Amino acid sequence: MKNLQKLFYAAGLMVVATCLMLSSCTKEGPQGIAGPAGKDGTDGKDASETCKQCHAKAVVDAIATEFELSKHSWGEAAFEEAGNVTCGPCHEQKAYVYVCANNTPATFSFVNGKWANDYVTNAANAIGEIGCYTCHSSLHTTYGMSDIALTSVAPVPMTMWAGTKTINLAQGGGSSNLCVKCHQPRPLTCGNDPAGRLLNYDSVKMFPKAVMYDSAAGAKNTMLKPSYRMHVHYGTVSAVYAGQGGIEYAGDVPYENSVHTSVATCQDCHMANPMTGIAGGHAFNMRNAKESALSSGTTWNFNGCNTTSCHGTLPIDANSSKWKNPRTEIKDLLNQLAAKINECGGGHDILHADATSANLWAGLTTGNYDGYLDIYSSSTNPSGYWRDPYNTSATNMAKPKFPKLLMVQTGALINFQFCLREYSLGIHNTNYVRALLANSIKALNDNL
Ligand code: HEC
Ligand code: HEC
Ligand code: HEC
Ligand code: HEC
Ligand code: HEC
Repeated sequence: MKNLQKLFYAAGLMVVATCLMLSSCTKEGPQGIAGPAGKDGTDGKDASETCKQCHAKAVVDAIATEFELSKHSWGEAAFEEAGNVTCGPCHEQKAYVYVCANNTPATFSFVNGKWANDYVTNAANAIGEIGCYTCHSSLHTTYGMSDIALTSVAPVPMTMWAGTKTINLAQGGGSSNLCVKCHQPRPLTCGNDPAGRLLNYDSVKMFPKAVMYDSAAGAKNTMLKPSYRMHVHYGTVSAVYAGQGGIEYAGDVPYENSVHTSVATCQDCHMANPMTGIAGGHAFNMRNAKESALSSGTTWNFNGCNTTSCHGTLPIDANSSKWKNPRTEIKDLLNQLAAKINECGGGHDILHADATSANLWAGLTTGNYDGYLDIYSSSTNPSGYWRDPYNTSATNMAKPKFPKLLMVQTGALINFQFCLREYSLGIHNTNYVRALLANSIKALNDNL
């Protein structure tokens, strides 16, 4: 538009200049004979032809319609986290493009006596709803089809490990790494450590009987601060998929990955075509239901599963054993682990439950747990049952003290969150989820 205005301004000046010239010429001579015609110029590129490769009903227009059904588009997190340089890299369009372009490391630096994650954007780029330009950041650079190239397919240093471990899903040209960069867990900080160090998963595993939290020992004698939201964030999918990021207790079940980890891409299952209702394509869903919990009537888009190179010969549907058996098994293990974790409450759950659609994992466990702890918080969990150890309000102090937690219980809790919040009841990586859950249950049985 600005350019157009410039054009208009420039043209306007020329008109004025021409008028002036005309009015200053008082006498005009007779017109001369016309000169010979000029040489034809070489054909210019027809810009609108390259535009049409994308700007056609079947391409951008169709995809933009599908994308409206994606939570990337209708979700509210991009509004809520706008301006936040820490949350931005996964929640804001320009911030994601910024960390990709600058290869921003996932390391931590010691600043003013505290460890801080370097995986941040700058203030100017902490903005933007996730959209076409987030994943296709080269759009409108050459105006050719190559502009569809994905913003990043590079291996992803994991922010939960301060970048010391990397996820690389190399299949499909690394296209899953695009998703992994955002759909990864966040680091768990030791809330009671003034230096804000990360919780060391190796110590959690090696010292199962050490105390993580005990109200009797005083609030300072602990590492983590138990709270409603003491968690690994919401994006555990990619770590589970890659078989990384859990607390791997020794046990009867070996830590192995399912075949998906090395052969399937996120796009295979989440962007399958043709779409089934709101599932597939650029809506990125597998399930054709927006918010309702899983039920027998729920339909899925299995088109990505049933290709010739994957399950084409024995196609999968909602009643196939390949679909039902692992999901039933993992649901059962989640239920068992939840029960074992809740035992320390002496009759009252420590895990928070929510059967409404506000719980993204409603229906995945019989108790409808969401991975939070049922600790009081005036803003986020006003009906919380347990006392927040770090709040002295009268309402809070009237509640029962949160029970003592050993390291093994903390590790089991982290693994529970991790496996619940991969959403698929093991479809992402059945073997890894099974091992984490079964071995966590054994670790609790052995140490309590
Ligand atoms: C590689 C695919 C591709 C090509 C080629 C392409 N565009 Fe686009 N264009 C897009 C996408 C994707 C969007 C964003 C659509 C949306 O947000 O729904 C877009 C959006 C637009 C918009 C809306 C404003 C904006 O920037 O979001 C205009 C105007 C536009 N394009 C013009 C053009 C013109 C003119 C050409 C050719 C010179 C062209 N495009 C070539 C993919 C392309
Ligand atoms: C820039 C970071 C980013 C990238 C890249 C990204 N996602 Fe997301 N994704 C998010 C965020 C953030 C949400 C949740 C948005 C909200 O709640 O507002 C989300 C939501 C989703 C959801 C819906 C989750 C739900 O609770 O229903 C699916 C499915 C999904 N993403 C899959 C993918 C796949 C597959 C890819 C790769 C092709 C991908 N995402 C790439 C950040 C990203
Ligand atoms: C490493 C990437 C990453 C970072 C950094 C990050 N998030 Fe997220 N967040 C995600 C992803 C991915 C999702 C969507 C997960 C899904 O629905 O499967 C999400 C979801 C959310 C949601 C939506 C939960 C819901 O119930 O729908 C909120 C709120 C949120 N994040 C807040 C934050 C805040 C606040 C920060 C900064 C303190 C932050 N996030 C930093 C990746 C990240
Ligand atoms: C979360 C990441 C993400 C977002 C947001 C996104 N795309 Fe894509 N897009 C992809 C991926 C991944 C592929 C490759 C699909 C495959 O490998 O099958 C792709 C492929 C494409 C293609 C070429 C192949 C095809 O499916 O026709 C077009 C065109 C396209 N996207 C347009 C868009 C438009 C238009 C928007 C915005 C309305 C958009 N994309 C938003 C990830 C994304
Ligand atoms: C083998 C198929 C398959 C592959 C490959 C796959 N997913 Fe999923 N994914 C699922 C299923 C099934 C669900 C459960 C969907 C539901 O309950 O609606 C799911 C759920 C999710 C969700 C929660 C939102 C939702 O729609 O429920 C996110 C986010 C997600 N996957 C991201 C990814 C990412 C990122 C990758 C690649 C690292 C990936 N998935 C690879 C099958 C797959």
